[in-house]
Amino acid sequence: MSRALDAVRPEIRKLRAYTFAPVPQGLRAKLDFNEASADVAPARKAEVLARVAARRWALYPEFGAPRLREALAAASGRSPDEVVPGNGSGEVILAAMSVLAGCGGTLLLAPPVFSLYYQMAALVGARVAEVPLAGPAFALDEDAFLAAVAREARPVPLLCSPNNPTGGTVPLAFVRRLAAVAPVVLLDQAYVDFAGEEDDARILLDELDNLVVFRTLSKAYGIAGLRVGYALARTPLAREVAKAVLPFSVDVGAEETALALLADRAGVAARTGEVARERERVAAALRALGARVAPSRANFLFFVPPGGDAPALFRGLRERGVLVRELVFPASSATPSAIRVTIGTPEENDAFLRAFEEVL
Ligand SMILES: Cc1ncc(COP(=O)(O)O)c(C=O)c1O
Repeated sequence: MSRALDAVRPEIRKLRAYTFAPVPQGLRAKLDFNEASADVAPARKAEVLARVAARRWALYPEFGAPRLREALAAASGRSPDEVVPGNGSGEVILAAMSVLAGCGGTLLLAPPVFSLYYQMAALVGARVAEVPLAGPAFALDEDAFLAAVAREARPVPLLCSPNNPTGGTVPLAFVRRLAAVAPVVLLDQAYVDFAGEEDDARILLDELDNLVVFRTLSKAYGIAGLRVGYALARTPLAREVAKAVLPFSVDVGAEETALALLADRAGVAARTGEVARERERVAAALRALGARVAPSRANFLFFVPPGGDAPALFRGLRERGVLVRELVFPASSATPSAIRVTIGTPEENDAFLRAFEEVL
């Protein structure tokens, strides 16, 4: 066994596995994963299941997922050649990272940010350089970020907008500035459906041939359980990213579901609008209770509770059946710990606020 473990790359041996505690029984509100609050309607599920049943399961999905690429392209105002679908956006982010930053490139991150990026960087053999978000609003330090791009030999900036876990967005004007100096820019827009059109970077693809935008159907479209995400980039770059995605990574069930939901843009817009309204209501309530809440354009809020003891609040909420995400940062940081709470249904949000008041 030890010989086998010696064969594991040292950076993987050092890596802590990405794990989560089992979900406790009897939860009142599961607000820890930024999933959609409402499930896909039973009638829509039945319709999709009938279509999946009519497909031949013995066969691999159609190579290159042409129907899905066409639907995603139509939803994005781009051409199908510019779409790289995958098994969730996680798969296409890993693919792009591998193609662009693998084997010795430097991924530039602005933490706190989605922790899976660090895992992926280790997997593809990329270094990580960090430019932390600054100030009470957790804003990107644009000058420091550009300076880091200039300093690194093979810089690959990866920004998340809206950012998980803080919820803030990167101005498109900055993406333009960054693309002018960096060889390539990766922009994760998993949550952009909850923000405004002014945050949607797809519009930049006309002018920038070195931008890759990642999107997902896991959040606003509510199918985290079925795994469809995609990258958008101009055709030559999209073709390179696609080389690192395994063939047939979107199965027929996920594909049929995505096709059905992409045809219902109005339904998605209604749901994201509702989430945005609830987000502002919950943020106002948290502020009234003394929490320091970062401005969010996503389906979650990032806040420091009054007194600053996020781990105690996390435990208190959990005892009351409300699951949120606890974030713990290095003791030296200005914000040692915080909570990220997903915006749920109005009832779940009320349950969260009631439990929050009780714990206080
Ligand atoms: C910022 C961000 N990017 C990407 C993902 C991956 O989403 P998926 O693989 O479900 O598309 C997540 C999931 O939580 C996320 O928060």
